[in-house]
Amino acid sequence: MRFDKYVSDALGLTRSEARELIKRGGFTADGRLLTAPAAHVDGEEIRYNGEVISPVGMVYIMMNKPAGVLSATEDKNQKTVLDLLPERYGRYGLFPVGRLDKDTEGFLLLTNDGALAHRVLSPKNKVGKTYIARLSRELVPEKIYILEKGVDIGGYVTRPCKVEMTDPKTAKITVIEGKFHQVKKMFLAVDNHVEALKRVSFAGLELDGALAPGEYRELCTKEREKILHTMQ
Ligand code: URA
Repeated sequence: MRFDKYVSDALGLTRSEARELIKRGGFTADGRLLTAPAAHVDGEEIRYNGEVISPVGMVYIMMNKPAGVLSATEDKNQKTVLDLLPERYGRYGLFPVGRLDKDTEGFLLLTNDGALAHRVLSPKNKVGKTYIARLSRELVPEKIYILEKGVDIGGYVTRPCKVEMTDPKTAKITVIEGKFHQVKKMFLAVDNHVEALKRVSFAGLELDGALAPGEYRELCTKEREKILHTMQ
């Protein structure tokens, strides 16, 4: 694809605006400055002022969702994760892939790729999600064993999962389903209570530790490839 078309599609500019902007500098292709509007690009990672840009119409954003914000596209009264993105993303029709509770923090994928969202959310694909749960009480080994085998969270028995303790009241739990309030209900089922919950990994991708709550970035090429190709 011609580079000026790539830029105009990615940033919502006319071709001539894109050409002007390209000539001013600020674009890199695989790390090398690119100032030629007529250049051809094919698979390189294109960045503008350091941020990955993508023209294909598909956008994949990793957000560190802060507590207190809804995982929704809009809400009359409350702030949603889409409100945290700059206006330029408005034209892409982004939505969160699955939900985190209002008080849960961490990795939320935002995209406009409906097919990917469907694959990631489909129970048959057993996509892993890892959470750090701060608990109100210490979790003894017998309870870990029960949790890992599966617990009844109200008409549904959870699939086997992995629980590791990082300290006696902090559990790292990896589940493959995404039932409503699942992790909180799982700990309730073993007489505990989740005081704070953060998702640290999703569909094989780790939350970027450089993202503070409320910050986001587009997936890099490697991450995009990983998430797009793991569940074909
Ligand atoms: N499980 C929960 O209980 N809440 C979340 O937000 C995600 C998983």
